[in-house]
Amino acid sequence: MSSLVTNMRNSLWWLWVVMVLVLVKGWYGLGCLEQERIALLQLKANINYPNGNSLPSWVEGENVNCCKWERVECNSTTGHVIQLSLDSIRDYHILRDWYFNASLFLQFKELKTLSLNGNYLPGWVENEGFERLSALRNLEVLDLTRNRLNNSVLSTLNGLSSLKFLDLGENDLKGLDHFNSSERLSGLSNLEILSFRYNQLNTSIQSFLKLDDFVSLKELDLSHNEIKVFEPIQGLEILRLSGNSFNNSILASLRGFSTVKSLDLSGNLLTGSIHVQELDGFRNLEELDLSDNEIESFVNPEGVKSLEKLKVLHLGYIKYDLNSTSNLMKSLMALSSSLKTLYFFGGELSKGNSEWKD
Ligand SMILES: *[C@@H]1O[C@H](CO)[C@@H](O)[C@H](O)[C@H]1NC(C)=O
Ligand SMILES: *[C@@H]1O[C@H](CO)[C@@H](O)[C@H](O)[C@H]1NC(C)=O
Ligand SMILES: *[C@@H]1O[C@H](CO)[C@@H](O)[C@H](O)[C@H]1NC(C)=O
Ligand SMILES: *[C@@H]1O[C@H](CO)[C@@H](O)[C@H](O)[C@H]1NC(C)=O
Ligand SMILES: *[C@@H]1O[C@H](CO)[C@@H](O)[C@H](O)[C@H]1NC(C)=O
Ligand SMILES: *[C@@H]1O[C@H](CO)[C@@H](O)[C@H](O)[C@H]1NC(C)=O
Ligand SMILES: *[C@@H]1O[C@H](CO)[C@@H](O)[C@H](O)[C@H]1NC(C)=O
Repeated sequence: MSSLVTNMRNSLWWLWVVMVLVLVKGWYGLGCLEQERIALLQLKANINYPNGNSLPSWVEGENVNCCKWERVECNSTTGHVIQLSLDSIRDYHILRDWYFNASLFLQFKELKTLSLNGNYLPGWVENEGFERLSALRNLEVLDLTRNRLNNSVLSTLNGLSSLKFLDLGENDLKGLDHFNSSERLSGLSNLEILSFRYNQLNTSIQSFLKLDDFVSLKELDLSHNEIKVFEPIQGLEILRLSGNSFNNSILASLRGFSTVKSLDLSGNLLTGSIHVQELDGFRNLEELDLSDNEIESFVNPEGVKSLEKLKVLHLGYIKYDLNSTSNLMKSLMALSSSLKTLYFFGGELSKGNSEWKD
């Protein structure tokens, strides 16, 4: 009898424990976690060292809800920090460089998105590089745009297997004649979107990327580099190659690139006549940008057989003569019942046809 009472007491006691736990968890659900709040304050101190004034809303105190702080986003169920948007966070009055220090971020176990865009990071603290972020199993978005990272950043990112989006635009990546293959970007098999825009890469992509690993890649931005050669990457849907050094041979080397839906070749070195047959094989192409090249004519437009899906064609800032252009348009219209938009903005037609000017 007494053991039954004890059992009941015990189970009541357990019920209490469970209720208290539920309440505490519920309360945490409204605020942020203690250790993450402390980590945020450490991060702020590091960002402001030695005398900056960024992040004024991140202040110490009992019961402050750090999930409400600027540039912080939490999961409303778990209270964990899931997003840190530290774009241009360094106070420009601080002339000292800010170096990346991975330890400052490892407390945020559920971090999904980290943006360090626009901080002119020249590199990282010794043994505190980006490779240590591989402990953050949920990290999907890493934005490192507008920093000063050099080629050695590539191999530090190789273990971040949860990444879906990586932006290395506007950094100091350079093409090297003898690229060391162990310094390539590799392993990121979940990566869907990758950008290297505005760097000084001038070699083929295989020299800085281990292409076979990037099985999920859908979008690649290499615009505004100095690249001259490129070959199709099957699976890729969006390819931005504007502002590079491609000449007319790029079309032939991309022949058979059947998965690409959007291709931007604007602002390259395409000149003279384009043989339209070279666009054959882009079976899924929906948008093509050839603006701002020195194209003068399109030869044999009847040759296009497979651009049924082309919806948008950009031909702005191009030199072309009316005959071949109207042939091209006629054939495109005939071929492609889906073509909805043709941009001729800035186009310059041959003399006597000023009514065509846009
Ligand atoms: C918040 O966390 C819960 C539980 O882990 C998860 O199911 C949910 O997807 C998360 N929400 C967001 C926006 O991350
Ligand atoms: C990196 O961050 C950790 C954690 O805040 C800190 O203990 C360490 O001193 C930092 N390293 C440097 C060189 O700033
Ligand atoms: C590249 O950056 C790393 C990390 O900051 C630095 O140690 C290295 O000296 C840099 N390399 C060059 C060639 O500038
Ligand atoms: C790439 O640029 C480097 C300078 O950064 C130069 O030495 C090299 O010759 C260039 N390579 C090609 C293929 O243009
Ligand atoms: C390639 O780079 C790695 C890491 O920087 C270095 O250890 C290795 O010696 C380099 N190999 C060659 C052939 O230069
Ligand atoms: C076009 O570019 C390719 C690749 O760089 C080069 O081999 C070829 O000589 C160039 N053609 C012309 C006409 O410049
Ligand atoms: C344009 O086509 C017409 C008719 O086919 C031809 O007479 C004319 O010479 C062509 N003009 C140019 C610049 O090729």
